[in-house]
Amino acid sequence: MNLPDYIEARKRTKAKVEIEHYSNEIKNIGNGKTYHIKTYGCQMNEHDSENIKAILEELGFTYNDNYLTSDLILLNTCSIRENAHNKAFGMLGRLKHLKSTRPNLIVGLCGCMAQEEGVVKELLDKYKWVNFVFGTHNLHRLPYILKKALDNNVSEIEVFSKEGNIIEGMPVKRDSKYKAYVNIIYGCDKFCTYCIVPFTRGGQRSRLKEDIIAEVNELIKEGYMEVTLLGQNVNAYGKDLNLGYGMEELLEEVSKTNIPRIRFVTSHPWDFTDGMIDCIARHENIMPAIHLPVQSGSNKILKLMGRRYSREDYLTLFSKMKERIPNVSISTDIIVGFPGEDEQDFKDTLDLVEKCKFDNAFTFIYSKRENTAAAKLKDNTSLEDKEKRLYELNKVVNKYFLENNQKLIGQIVPVLVEGISDKKNELYGYTDTNKLINFKGSVSNIGKIVPVKVTAAKTWSLDGEQDE
Ligand code: SAH
Ligand code: SF4
Ligand code: F3S
Repeated sequence: MNLPDYIEARKRTKAKVEIEHYSNEIKNIGNGKTYHIKTYGCQMNEHDSENIKAILEELGFTYNDNYLTSDLILLNTCSIRENAHNKAFGMLGRLKHLKSTRPNLIVGLCGCMAQEEGVVKELLDKYKWVNFVFGTHNLHRLPYILKKALDNNVSEIEVFSKEGNIIEGMPVKRDSKYKAYVNIIYGCDKFCTYCIVPFTRGGQRSRLKEDIIAEVNELIKEGYMEVTLLGQNVNAYGKDLNLGYGMEELLEEVSKTNIPRIRFVTSHPWDFTDGMIDCIARHENIMPAIHLPVQSGSNKILKLMGRRYSREDYLTLFSKMKERIPNVSISTDIIVGFPGEDEQDFKDTLDLVEKCKFDNAFTFIYSKRENTAAAKLKDNTSLEDKEKRLYELNKVVNKYFLENNQKLIGQIVPVLVEGISDKKNELYGYTDTNKLINFKGSVSNIGKIVPVKVTAAKTWSLDGEQDE
């Protein structure tokens, strides 16, 4: 049994990260059995689930859309806020019931919650029937962990607190045939005071440029139209490698592969350079859509959050992007109710939103996370007041989503067509600026980039007609 340890997880060392190649000698343990994965959290978890699915299928398991009839159920969990936690524990509650009727059901838990000391203690205490647990640093060990759990019929827990080497060559079963996630940097060293990610995902580690480019070229061969370069802070890409290249050089090289669309998430404003802005502006295949979390518009709160920029720095960066990248859409994340946030701080956030008029924003109430620096700060605001702030903020951000969308009415925009929309007789896809659009058009265009005329705008989507 390997249990998570927060002191270890916080440590950052200069130890050199090696590259290992995935290998697995275990075969057939899933023959005749089905599996189901529930994925919570961010794109990183979604992509990890794509690797996990492929590993399970290599072992002989087949996918089952219905968890109630699956032989193996795996929860790939997220720790970012308390409600993500509660969702996973709620699901475990349902699975306990299911397991009482089907004792042979195999239940596993992985992802960021598995990296939390408190969670694993609770699992050992109250959820002993969970068959296996593994963390974010050892997906590649899944065949061995699962085999041990099945052979010994005991709960197998293997969580590494320290990030290990980078594993190349993991199998992958992608959810889309047109859009693919490509990891470029793992972990995070920023330690924003509210955030649990540096503990659950470990230290910052970049993949080698050659490995990333090889993966993109492979995707092009398979017919992929779009890649999203993934990391908690993609702008820090390359800093840990000391090989003399960073995100700008990487974007330049990925652009040269001629994949039609390149996106990247997430960008921390601190590491966003002028060179990167110019690179995005220069290349047609780097999409003009940037997710640039601001978190707060108050300098006092930004400082308490440890974000390393002021509202003025953010606004300067924002204006530069708007000036230099034609038609760029900028989205953000905002937290309300951080400890110490008063009415004036909140007004500063509203004022920043009025200035930036974001194309999209994810808004959250601050959630206290175990062991983070902010957990020790005094918090005098009631939940009711925080909810009021969130409501008020959402009203303002929504107004600008709609206004920005309305500006597109009558324009012809490029859309990567992904499939048939819920409305059945329509298609759906995303514009270059990452806006969802439902439109009338020919099914033969699924998987292609086509011009679509925007005919109507809603808060969270557009309507259109294919431009023949
Ligand atoms: N790496 C990304 C963010 C990943 S988490 C970045 O730095 O931009 C996604 C978002 O969740 C964050 O941007 C933040 O707005 C929110 N978040 C993170 N920790 C949170 C917490 N403790 N409470 C509420 N929201 C949080
Ligand atoms: Fe969390 Fe900050 Fe790292 Fe983003 S940059 S993952 S918010 S610590
Ligand atoms: Fe959640 Fe982990 Fe992502 S905490 S947001 S799944 S990195």
